[in-house]
Amino acid sequence: MRILVTGGAGFIGSHLCEFWLRRGHQIAIIDNLDPFYDPALKRANLEEIRSAGCFEFSETDLRDASRLRQVVTEFRPEAVAHLAARAGVRPSLLEPELYVATNVLGTVNLFEACHAAGVRRFIFGSSSSVYGRYNRLPFSEGDSIAKPLSVYAATKAAGEALAFAYWHLHQTSVVVLRIFTVFGPRQRPDLAIRKFASLIEEGKELPIFGDGSIQRDYTYVDDVVAAFDRALEVPCGFEIFNLGNSRTIRLDYMVETLEKALGKKALRRHCPPQPGDMDITYADLTKSRKVLGYNPQVPFEEGVQRFVQWFRRRA
Ligand SMILES: NC(=O)c1ccc[n+]([C@@H]2O[C@H](COP(=O)([O-])OP(=O)(O)OC[C@H]3O[C@@H](n4cnc5c(N)ncnc54)[C@H](O)[C@@H]3O)[C@@H](O)[C@H]2O)c1
Repeated sequence: MRILVTGGAGFIGSHLCEFWLRRGHQIAIIDNLDPFYDPALKRANLEEIRSAGCFEFSETDLRDASRLRQVVTEFRPEAVAHLAARAGVRPSLLEPELYVATNVLGTVNLFEACHAAGVRRFIFGSSSSVYGRYNRLPFSEGDSIAKPLSVYAATKAAGEALAFAYWHLHQTSVVVLRIFTVFGPRQRPDLAIRKFASLIEEGKELPIFGDGSIQRDYTYVDDVVAAFDRALEVPCGFEIFNLGNSRTIRLDYMVETLEKALGKKALRRHCPPQPGDMDITYADLTKSRKVLGYNPQVPFEEGVQRFVQWFRRRA
């Protein structure tokens, strides 16, 4: 298949591109290598993808509608996996306009370009953050997403609403994947496991927001990639699926697991809870297992071991 991956130079996107290239798909990547974190890491990700095969790369910004349309039209993808975004809850409170421009306007631009190019299937990388704090646990796809707790979460909810509208208007098949905190090799440097691993190695204090009881449903990157692959084929008009592990991990347990894997003690500094953060994320996987055939394989502890092996190799 000819597949366009936006955000392909990033953490999840680079794993996905590698996987699809090894499966024999033709891949084009759109990514503006934005400075949210060091673009050198993104260039290194592109090099790693190259080891899996040849692909097209366009350093294009989603906010540049006409260029985006040109690139999409030239590649003529059958499917698009949309992962490019400004990610992260806390930074979205500091630069709300940038988040809306990239994640909402950028997504509209992409839908328009895909419609013009006759794309048949659109896979949207959404986020567990859309569930906020007012839903029953575990979160299931039919829950309300009308009360996001951060600008980032609101932009992802808006992206989902736009995806529905474009499906309704143009019958492009849309698969929305609500991704729960992802970890593994090449994890974004702003995300807790990688950030904490660096601080522990350097003997510096870890900021622990709240009392350590915050819980996250951590998902290993290979499991997310496998789900995107299933999303290429699943029969659908418009469907939403949770991609989590359906197991919550407390922040203090995450740090202990990391300490064990690194063989080093962490210095903890307790800080007040962060505005916009959710207390808990927890995925109900009933629908994803049944309809998408999603079946996460990598338990948290094993994933942390694999992450640490990669982290040590690259240091
Ligand atoms: N990592 C997670 O835990 C997680 C959880 C839920 C949802 N998601 C979503 O998954 C997607 C990928 O996340 P990630 O962790 O790999 O992040 P990432 O930052 O590593 O990757 C995103 C990529 O998008 C690119 N990008 C940003 N703005 C762009 C623009 N205007 N035009 C073109 N490209 C642009 C960046 O350069 C980057 O390479 C994002 O949409 C994110 O919101 C991630």
